[in-house]
Amino acid sequence: MINIKNLNSKILNKEAKVGVIGLGYVGLPLALLISNKGFKTYGFDIDDKKIKSLKEKKSYISHIPSEKIKESLNFYPTGDFSKLKICDIVIICVPTPTTETNEPDLSAVVSTSEVVKKYLHKGEVVILVSTTYPTTTRDVVKPILEKSGLKCGKDFFLAFSPEREDPGNKVYSTENIPKLVGGVDRISTEVVCLFFSQIVNKVIPVSSAEVAEASKVLENTFRAVNIALVNELKMLFDRMGIDIWEVIDAASTKPFGFMTFYPGPGWGGHCIPVDPFYLSYIAKKYDFSTKFIELAGQINIRMPEFVVEKVSEALNQRKKVLNGAKILVLGLSYKKDIGDLRESPSLRVIELLEKKGSKVDYNDPYIEQIPPLRKYKFLKRSVELNEKNLKRYDCVIIITDHSCYDYKMILENSNLIVDTRNAIRRNLPNYKNLQKVVQA
Ligand SMILES: NC(=O)c1ccc[n+]([C@@H]2O[C@H](COP(=O)([O-])OP(=O)(O)OC[C@H]3O[C@@H](n4cnc5c(N)ncnc54)[C@H](O)[C@@H]3O)[C@@H](O)[C@H]2O)c1
Repeated sequence: MINIKNLNSKILNKEAKVGVIGLGYVGLPLALLISNKGFKTYGFDIDDKKIKSLKEKKSYISHIPSEKIKESLNFYPTGDFSKLKICDIVIICVPTPTTETNEPDLSAVVSTSEVVKKYLHKGEVVILVSTTYPTTTRDVVKPILEKSGLKCGKDFFLAFSPEREDPGNKVYSTENIPKLVGGVDRISTEVVCLFFSQIVNKVIPVSSAEVAEASKVLENTFRAVNIALVNELKMLFDRMGIDIWEVIDAASTKPFGFMTFYPGPGWGGHCIPVDPFYLSYIAKKYDFSTKFIELAGQINIRMPEFVVEKVSEALNQRKKVLNGAKILVLGLSYKKDIGDLRESPSLRVIELLEKKGSKVDYNDPYIEQIPPLRKYKFLKRSVELNEKNLKRYDCVIIITDHSCYDYKMILENSNLIVDTRNAIRRNLPNYKNLQKVVQA
């Protein structure tokens, strides 16, 4: 058994060296925060381009300014994983996507655990942050680490601590979002709580790694199901001639028992469309079928088709058809004010429109060009958003309501707008002539 007092004082004196593996949307801001709190922090990634960029003090994430990297003097990005042997605390932030058949793909967690095992030493603390189904930390990561011959809870410590980061959120960031910690044993929970209490404002211990894992998937499943509910009601109310946005505003005046969710063109990002299926997967192993999750998936996945139907109807009313129509998609990222394209419904909308013969361009101030993606290979660059360009299109579709858009200019210069976010009415509440705006 290692001397836990020594480990604790290393943490309290900020002498513990930290390694963060996976420097993406979650790992990079976390590593920068830890280093700014005074811990020598090594950042590891298999993507050489990211490491090169960080060594040059350049950010590759649109909402993280390069200045932040320049200011982080305690941060050492490296592709040399052997430096893990000098790290006292190792934090795993690698991707946890799903396969094409919506099964969990834990390959990055498994291969990272293998690398951590290779350099694992007595007194080391390992923290899994990647979102996953309950039991992963104990049943997947721990056995790999124990192949080193070291014993969890005795020679090294292991916990799950989910990231609740909301990229681009101006109010909540890693530092002021309460951090859940669930260890695979009591000492692991305590030591990881002690570490995170040096980093974030509030740490909440829970009784096990499984509770921490399950709470993260509950949070995201809750969002997925509620987004599906408002999206379904949007389609119903549209048929009934009732304005869903006004309905939501009205319902939101209830001071208790109602939480506001807004409809949109579908769901997107690395979390909401993915994490619930991690839960479905493990549920099957317990002979349990998660019907809410499956249903939410069916509804949210169908939303881009609804948007395209609304575009088709709106063009039809103007004696035009989708085939040959020139269409401009505004906003590609899955949510506003960030440049993250992962699972964005905009891509499916573009695909559906192009299948119908439309000529589609896009503008997104955060995405200069669409990189080759697993599912989509669009060769498109963002077109300039100006009066002359807007007039060229038969229809403009607002998919992502970036705050920097000049909605007045968009409204005044477009021939037809299909608005999936209620952006025009919300941003121009006093504008009366909205005949060319169709809600979708
Ligand atoms: N993006 C979010 O808003 C968010 C929020 C909460 C939780 N999460 C979860 O956090 C985890 C990471 O998500 P992300 O958005 O940061 O992903 P990301 O794709 O932005 O970043 C992951 C990084 O890990 C690197 N990587 C992949 N395999 C690796 C390996 N074997 N070894 C080292 N590095 C490796 C990639 O090159 C990439 O830089 C996921 O489990 C995700 O579900 C994400």
